[in-house]
Order: sequence, then structure tokens, then C-alpha cells
Amino acid sequence: MKGIILAGGTGSRLFPLTLVASKQLQPVYDKPMVYYPLATLIENGIRELCLISTPQDLPRFQQLLGDGTAWGISIEYREQARPAGIAQAFLIADSFIGNDSVALILGDNVFYGGDEFHGAFAELEKGAVIFGCHVNDPERYGVVEFDGAGRALSIQEKPAQPRSNYAVPGLYLYDNQVVGIARNLKPSARGELEITDVNVEYLRRGELRVRRLNRGFAWLDAGTSSSLHEASAYVQTIEKRQGIKIGCPEEAALLRGFLDIAALAMLVEKMPNCEYRQYLFDVVGEARRLEKER
Ligand code: DAU
Repeated sequence: MKGIILAGGTGSRLFPLTLVASKQLQPVYDKPMVYYPLATLIENGIRELCLISTPQDLPRFQQLLGDGTAWGISIEYREQARPAGIAQAFLIADSFIGNDSVALILGDNVFYGGDEFHGAFAELEKGAVIFGCHVNDPERYGVVEFDGAGRALSIQEKPAQPRSNYAVPGLYLYDNQVVGIARNLKPSARGELEITDVNVEYLRRGELRVRRLNRGFAWLDAGTSSSLHEASAYVQTIEKRQGIKIGCPEEAALLRGFLDIAALAMLVEKMPNCEYRQYLFDVVGEARRLEKER
């Protein structure tokens, strides 16, 4: 399975922060926002990635992430000339996807908690898997309605009268049909190729599974000044209390076996003296200790 990180858009709700650096490059506590979705994909075994952003922001992402070899992954870059909808990602990354299945993650979505995604990534063979997460303000999102047996009945984009409190977060797993589906989409009333229309088409074909994320799972949206601040506060609280980092691509690559301990140790050596370096230094130490005990 390939992975796409969609990190374009205007970031207008974060003005003036986004005048010189795009939304997904803003800090969420101690690291750039894009590290979180990147780490989510790596944690779930995605090694071949494509990042899509605006022509003006793309060079900064390339500067930050490089081609991925340092982390044992590969990252390609593609431009989205204007924000014409989330589903346009499949048309822009068509040649990258090839005949593979694909996970799309939005560059401003932060996830934390448990193994909720692992099963979904592992089991996708045919069709699509998306998620439903209980929120207070479903009218801001794609909303999924379930029947008594937990099957999805409908999905609506930002409905004025939501049929449930279950919003669809920005992580979508699709088989290769998604490229053809995206090609046949018509722009919505707001002029975008809607990801919800892709999901509705999979639902119509009887090939959509919606997995409900349980309590204890956190989905944070960092798209406005106050939600960005709340996301930072949440990450700081967990990291301080538990002594583990959320959204650390280097650690995720080690745990996934994309990087070995020696390669991570070399990366750490090159980092300036800072908390992030100290954390990864300790990760290397612990990994070496565990290896010796084995
Ligand atoms: O966050 C999850 C929600 O994302 C879903 O529940 C909705 O179904 C889905 O439509 C979307 O909601 P929004 O309309 O609020 O998404 P927004 O326009 O804020 O875009 C989400 C991210 O994707 C944002 O970081 C910018 C990026 N983006 C968006 C569009 C439309 C692009 O890079 N290119 C685009 O063309």
C-alpha cells in the first residue's frame, strides 16, 4: 500500500501565521504538524509516500523531509496548483499510485492512541475503509450514520442536521478503484472534488467499511488558531506525563524496522543539542539494551 499526505490548501483560517509558512509546517508543540500524519503512516507500515502541496510550499516540505532515505522510506512530491478538493489527490498522484492500494491522510490531522488503525491497514484487500470518530461538532465534517448493527447507512458532507455525532477523520484507505472513482467525480457546490463523494460511491457499491474509533482514541484537528493551540497542549500533556513522543517519524521508523538502531544513532549524532535529540538518544539506548537482552 502506498501513502499520500495532502498538505496544500490556503491555511486562511490560520492567517497571519500562514503568510510565510503553510499550515502543515506550523508547530504542534515540539515538531512540525506534518510529522504527525507522516508518523501515523510509518507506524502502519507505509514506506512509499507522496506529499502533495502548493507550488510555493513544496520546496519547504522538501527541505524538511528530503527524499525519506534518512528514515528508511521514500517520499515523492507533487504540486496541487489550486485547492480543488481533497479527492483531486488521486488524480495528481495517479502515476505514483500505479496499481497499488493507497492510504490518504490529511496533513493537519493528528491521531493518538492504541492500535486502532493497525487492523484496518492490514486487512484492506478490496474496497475502502474509513473511520468514524465521536465529536461534539459533527456539522463541521463528513458525518456517517450507522444502523443498529453498526453498518454505515449514509455519509454526508457538513450536513446542517447531522444524523449522528460520528465524524469522518482525515485518514482514508482505498483499493485501486479510487483512481477511476476520482476521475468520474463532478465538482461540488463549493467547486471541489469531495472526498465524501468518493466514500459515497464505495458505499453505493457495497464496498465501504466504517470502523468506529473507540473512547481513548484522540483525533485532533489543528486547522484554526484555537484548535492548533489545543493540539499543542494535548501533545505536551501526554509527552510530559508519559515520557514518550507523539508523531516522531524517526522512532516510528525504528519500531517498524525501516531503520536499524545504528542508522538511528547516526541520525541522532547529527542533531543539534535539544530535547528532541535527547529523546531519540534515549530511544537508541533502550533499543540497544533490549537487543542485548534478547
Ligand atoms: O478533517 C476531516 C474532514 O476533512 C472530513 O471530515 C471532511 O469530510 C473533509 O471534507 C475535510 O473537511 P474540510 O472541508 O474541513 O477540509 P479542508 O478544506 O479544511 O481541508 C483539509 C486539509 O486538506 C487541509 O489541511 C488543506 C488540505 N487540502 C484541502 C483541499 C480542499 C488540500 O491540500 N487541497 C485541497 O484541495
